[in-house]
Amino acid sequence: METSKAHVALLPLPGMGHMIPFLGLGKLFVTHHNFKVTIFLVSIDHSSQTLSKTIISEMSNELCNIVQLPPVDITGVVDPNATVGLRLSVTMREIVPAFRSSVATMKPCPTVLITDIFGTDAFSVAEEFGMLKYVFSPSNAWILALTIYTPVLDKEVKGEYVHQKEPLKIPGCASVRVEDLFDPLLDRTNQQYDEYLHAGIRLRTSDGVLMNCWEELQPKTVAALRDDKLLGCVLKRPVYPVGPIVTQSGNSSKSGLLFDWLNKQSNDSVVYVSFGSGATLSHEQMTELAFGLELSQQRFVWVVRAPTKESGNKTYLKGRSGDENHDQFGYLPNGFMSRIQNVGFVISDWVSQVDILSHPSIGAFISHCGWNSTLESILMGVPIIAFPLFAEQKMNATMLTEEFGMAVRLEVLPSKKVVGREEIQKKVRKIMVDNEGHGIRDRVNELKYSAKEALCKGSSSYKALSELAKRFEARMQLQNKKAPSPITHE
Ligand SMILES: *[C@@H]1O[C@H](CO)[C@@H](O)[C@H](O)[C@H]1NC(C)=O
Ligand SMILES: *[C@@H]1O[C@H](CO)[C@@H](O)[C@H](O)[C@H]1NC(C)=O
Ligand SMILES: *[C@@H]1O[C@H](CO)[C@@H](O)[C@H](O)[C@H]1NC(C)=O
Ligand SMILES: *[C@@H]1O[C@H](CO)[C@@H](O)[C@H](O)[C@H]1NC(C)=O
Ligand SMILES: *[C@@H]1O[C@H](CO)[C@@H](O)[C@H](O)[C@H]1NC(C)=O
Repeated sequence: METSKAHVALLPLPGMGHMIPFLGLGKLFVTHHNFKVTIFLVSIDHSSQTLSKTIISEMSNELCNIVQLPPVDITGVVDPNATVGLRLSVTMREIVPAFRSSVATMKPCPTVLITDIFGTDAFSVAEEFGMLKYVFSPSNAWILALTIYTPVLDKEVKGEYVHQKEPLKIPGCASVRVEDLFDPLLDRTNQQYDEYLHAGIRLRTSDGVLMNCWEELQPKTVAALRDDKLLGCVLKRPVYPVGPIVTQSGNSSKSGLLFDWLNKQSNDSVVYVSFGSGATLSHEQMTELAFGLELSQQRFVWVVRAPTKESGNKTYLKGRSGDENHDQFGYLPNGFMSRIQNVGFVISDWVSQVDILSHPSIGAFISHCGWNSTLESILMGVPIIAFPLFAEQKMNATMLTEEFGMAVRLEVLPSKKVVGREEIQKKVRKIMVDNEGHGIRDRVNELKYSAKEALCKGSSSYKALSELAKRFEARMQLQNKKAPSPITHE
């Protein structure tokens, strides 16, 4: 018999933003602890299924096993106009039988299930097969604190959260300003709120919670999650900051016109502008941004997506394709492309963000503050100009400016109002030119150092992973002893 190793089953939400950090986590269990790792991919339709399997396989480098679960049809279960968040949580519930069938065929059966905050319905399968049950939040400690504490707020706060006069207090953590609240909390009568509440309660049935941050980044929040007098008495489960987990996609190449251009620029002299793969700006916002960049008199690289038709409305996962077919960049202001010829670089092709951010010429990042962009920015020591587009990114923006001190924030919220060119040029110059920018740059370099440390042997995230590994091995031995009959959870 081959020497047995603990077998980790990962069940992320569909979507690259979730699958990629889970893959990164899986690779750490393989490389640090020589465990066997299987990633179960969930998908909403056939086309996304093939694409994600190809990308994940390529990035996995054969380190992890990949099992594609059949796509789930949620059309009869959820309203077609339901939010992305709601559709994802329902998908994770509907996938449970398929996940069970797949686990049932595995010999030996996995030792542990690690799933997303919205994947805990699959805990029933883990219980049936005697597996440990963990949650991995690919986000940071503050978001986790809010998720854990929402069931308490639900009992204590009367009426809508958005109508509260005071910020929402979370024991031991920064308060959450009402205007920063993210989507699921905006409307307590919405099904999405119930899903979020359910997720917060279900976390307490896990064996522990992993998160994609590190102790030194959020020391107070992590301490509060463990403190019995603060959030520890709500969660009653160990928490493990195991980050930063950032995985580069397979085919990065630092060649081409863009990198030739960047190579000619001096260090810290270029502003990088990108809002992630899912987001597009309104036409009006795009115009203001273009003029703002021009007025700032700084060099820039702008990864553009064609603007959305309905200006002022957020559009998620829309309007991404087809940019190339039309008069390219015709949606940018008249004459813009020729005026910026020597100072700016505008592209609409796919480029590896990590490769751009790691280029020494990049001196600032205008970002929507998605968590993985934030981690990448920290690891590359690049300060951020926070441009949150969706509700859930407002908390990120607040945290980056007030807690981490690595960003400047706009006076107006881009999700509420078009940010004018003057404001954009002011914030760009604040980081790139003004004295205040130096302090922010020093701070992000400190964070970069602590991020690089965290996963080294003997450091905080490394220790957290080792502690988990010990628990997984102990469970495996128990499973081996009692196999084949399932073990009930103690
Ligand atoms: C970050 O997330 C986006 C989608 O949210 C994804 O396309 C991208 O590959 C991710 N990057 C990394 C390095 O994980
Ligand atoms: C690789 O690069 C091409 C463009 O050259 C892009 O279309 C594709 O999505 C990239 N693949 C991955 C896995 O990121
Ligand atoms: C620019 O940055 C690179 C990489 O950090 C460094 O090796 C180089 O010495 C820097 N150049 C100048 C002129 O400071
Ligand atoms: C946003 O969309 C809604 C309908 O989806 C529409 O009624 C509203 O006028 C739009 N707002 C703007 C600023 O275009
Ligand atoms: C930051 O934004 C991302 C979405 O891009 C979200 O997944 C994450 O939970 C947010 N974190 C905070 C602290 O708001």
